[in-house]
Amino acid sequence: MNRKNIVILISGTGSNMLAIANAAQKDRWDEKMQAHVACVISNRPGAEGLVSAAGLGIATQVLDHKNFESRDTFDAALANLIDSYQPALVVLAGFMRILTAGFVARYAGRMVNIHPSLLPAFPGLNTHQRALDAGCKFAGATVHMVTAELDHGAIVAQAAVPVLEGDDANSLAARVLVQEHLLYPQAVLAWLQTADAGGVQSYAN
Ligand code: GAR
Repeated sequence: MNRKNIVILISGTGSNMLAIANAAQKDRWDEKMQAHVACVISNRPGAEGLVSAAGLGIATQVLDHKNFESRDTFDAALANLIDSYQPALVVLAGFMRILTAGFVARYAGRMVNIHPSLLPAFPGLNTHQRALDAGCKFAGATVHMVTAELDHGAIVAQAAVPVLEGDDANSLAARVLVQEHLLYPQAVLAWLQTADAGGVQSYAN
């Protein structure tokens, strides 16, 4: 069984990263699947998630996008940093950057994202307010493979929650986030198990 390094990219709170890192430690992914979170990388120096990752003994790195002239130069440096950890899987967890096509192609079939809507509904920003404005009775979250088109890759897993009377974007986001924390570790685990079975290609678009 090959050792499987997971690299997680964040921009802020990192609660999804923490859910995955906690699941990996609690459920002993290292022993069972030789999988572990090798590094957490943030494009924002002040990201709260960096502190929580370090608290779990996980290596952290900051690559501030403001120090780069273009999206291309940032993505090239990010790919170099990610590749230094030889990742089997790259996990985007609240990583709020548009990625270049070259960067996405480099990790085709081994990069996943979580998006706070039931894709293909509401790709992009302000998902919860848009779901409320559309009168949706259900909202949720989607884990999907990352492709060049924003929030459009193959769906790996989804969780739905009801929209309740009196919800605003914040209350709905909080209800969805609880499900994200259950969904994302399960989806990452399923990906790793499929990788073990030699079936990773089936996840690629
Ligand atoms: C999560 O709700 C995630 O689904 C969303 O940002 C939040 C990050 O929270 N991602 C996107 O909107 C990506 N398009 P976290 O930093 O606490 O995990």
